[in-house]
Amino acid sequence: MTLKNALITGITGQDGAYLSSLLLSKGYGVYGILPRRSTDTLWRLRELGIAGDVTLLDGDITDLSSLIRAIEVSKADEVYNLGAQSFVGSSWQQPLLTAQVDGVGALNVLEAVRIANPKAHFYQASTSEMFGLIQAEMQDEKTPFYPRSPYGVAKLMGHWATVNYRESFGIHASSGILFNHESPLRGIEFVTRKVSHAVAAIKLGHQSELRLGNIDAKRDWGFAGDYVEAMWLMTQQPVADDYVVATGMTTTVRDMCRIAFGHVGLNIDDHLVIDPKFFRPAEVDVLLGNPAKATAALGWKPKTSLEQLITMMVDADLRRSAR
Ligand code: NAP
Ligand code: GDD
Repeated sequence: MTLKNALITGITGQDGAYLSSLLLSKGYGVYGILPRRSTDTLWRLRELGIAGDVTLLDGDITDLSSLIRAIEVSKADEVYNLGAQSFVGSSWQQPLLTAQVDGVGALNVLEAVRIANPKAHFYQASTSEMFGLIQAEMQDEKTPFYPRSPYGVAKLMGHWATVNYRESFGIHASSGILFNHESPLRGIEFVTRKVSHAVAAIKLGHQSELRLGNIDAKRDWGFAGDYVEAMWLMTQQPVADDYVVATGMTTTVRDMCRIAFGHVGLNIDDHLVIDPKFFRPAEVDVLLGNPAKATAALGWKPKTSLEQLITMMVDADLRRSAR
């Protein structure tokens, strides 16, 4: 018998897979919204060995009726809205879709909760991209937002909709302002995975160069497996609130690359090519989060260092490339 049921949008993504695994290990019945795609999107759930343990319900966060149905069918006690067009780079090419999915989509999920089960605890996947052109050296829950991409703008709507539904309707709605978090299950378009994949391919002789854009950008990178624990802790609190989840350390893309190349005995200068194609119309130069509130109130701390994270990713890509 399961203790509680959870419904996850974005269950096939990086965080959806790790969160499913965490919730299953705690005895939850795990349900996920599966948007219609022409290709198989279950590879991450398979890689964690849990594809057969979750129940997938047809739906899309741009379709309110599918969300209401999913909350009814799953009898969800907790709803995690992780579904998004999550690649910042694509948000300039598809700004309207990004707004529909990441902004209006979040509002749809909140509306579905309000209509179908207002007692459910809700989690919104907010982001450090909302800080954009940073207004404080270290960003926390009180730092003003200044988004720098259509993605950041759309996510800001999801964040404020979450705060507003908490204040307007008393819904237990929390917004997790998560800084970059990565893993071997990261999509190939994001810079850490692009690097780990390329380093493995270069080491195995399958390619010779890695083309990147702005390697001076700095990010506060953590491990996705650690960060989904913070999501769960937020929905367990007696009162909903908003939390920054970060490591409190920031590193340039260049130094992150050095860790990856160095791990397999390669020199970054022999392989890295700067390609203007990968520069963005407006950049978030630096992100550095202060997770003090999450540590004090949730007892959450990151467990994985950047070195451990990047070497884990390179090793996973070496195993995959060798296969
Ligand atoms: P991800 O790997 O890109 O996963 C996104 C998920 O959303 C996928 O399962 C995707 O399905 C799904 N999705 C896309 N459009 C949808 C729609 N219209 N209806 C329902 N589902 C849809 O992203 P992630 O790294 O796991 O991130 C999870 C969430 O946290 C996202 O909201 C992201 O914006 C946010 N976030 C991520 C980070 C980070 O560093 N990873 C940091 C802060 C916030 P398909 O693959 O089939 O499209
Ligand atoms: N993707 C990518 N590809 N990024 C590159 C490249 C490249 O070839 N070269 C340099 N970069 C720089 C980007 O310009 C950016 O400054 C940094 O590397 C990180 O880029 P991404 O890994 O694409 O992540 P992001 O920071 O834009 O967005 C991620 O983190 C957000 C939280 O801050 C995503 O996961 C978002 O969904 C998330 O909200």
